[in-house]
Amino acid sequence: MPPRKIIIDTDPGQDDAVAILLALASPDEIEVLAITAVAGNVPLALTQRNARVICELAGRSDVPVHAGCDRPLIRQLVTAENVHGKSGLDGVDLPAPTMALAAMDGVEAILHHIRREPPGTVTLCALGPLTNVATALRRDPEIASRLAGIVLMGGAYFEVGNVTPAAEFNIYVDPEAAEIVFKSGIDITVLPLDATHKALITAPRLERIVALGTPVSRTVASWLNFYERFDVEKYGGEGGPLHDPCVIAWLLDPTLFSGRKINVEIETGSDLTRGMTVADWWHVTTREANALFIGDVDAERLFALITERLGRL
Ligand code: RIB
Ligand code: CA
Repeated sequence: MPPRKIIIDTDPGQDDAVAILLALASPDEIEVLAITAVAGNVPLALTQRNARVICELAGRSDVPVHAGCDRPLIRQLVTAENVHGKSGLDGVDLPAPTMALAAMDGVEAILHHIRREPPGTVTLCALGPLTNVATALRRDPEIASRLAGIVLMGGAYFEVGNVTPAAEFNIYVDPEAAEIVFKSGIDITVLPLDATHKALITAPRLERIVALGTPVSRTVASWLNFYERFDVEKYGGEGGPLHDPCVIAWLLDPTLFSGRKINVEIETGSDLTRGMTVADWWHVTTREANALFIGDVDAERLFALITERLGRL
């Protein structure tokens, strides 16, 4: 079976970094056509820089990195330096990237690869606010029928919000973009906080990454040590959640996860519940099911997969 072709849309972010490394460490299963940066955890100038730092850390400066949208469709950008640090990749100082940023705009790059590859062969993996994805859909609605699907980290139902009582960060930052994506008719798989809050970076799991003893594993461990402190303080518990790698892990081994095909709609009108993913988990409406909403993950097997793949870099 040939590797699945993906585009990673991302706002690195330490957890985005581990997701990108996981994809680049799995060339038999995943071909990364491009990485498109979006404003989110930190401004675009940093997310595009960080994406290049991550590719060089993996020895993959051949992967094109593009800069996409620098702000949400209509709202002011909200960032998360309180979680990820000022650089977006705090925890270890890495040299500035030497690989160039690709000249093509990130949204154009998404359109370019989807048009160039045979229909139904490209999967979009969205790890940040959905601004680039929605802008691409607006620019060329045709791509909706050409995409194999979208696998995204975002939203929450039983876990409720992490940036407000109602909303998860990626959806909160650009709810109008999320609404366009969830109404697109594209096959969507959602990795919400309901799943990612069970993917905790416990001490034994972090120790197993450190035990790999490689420059990549040391960097990842330093990133995760820094990144998890915010959530451990906030939620208590035995470690911080590792959100974005769940998207790539889903592609590598969907048996790690379980969920339901349900209707998910996005709140865009209310200030109080802006960005809420209104997930009809109990099928109490007749609204059409538009997303596979993941509710659970086998965290031990997930971290075993992540650790094994990081060991290959
Ligand atoms: O709410 C978690 C999400 O927001 C993750 O993608 C993290 O990287 C941030 O973008
Ligand atoms: Ca992210």
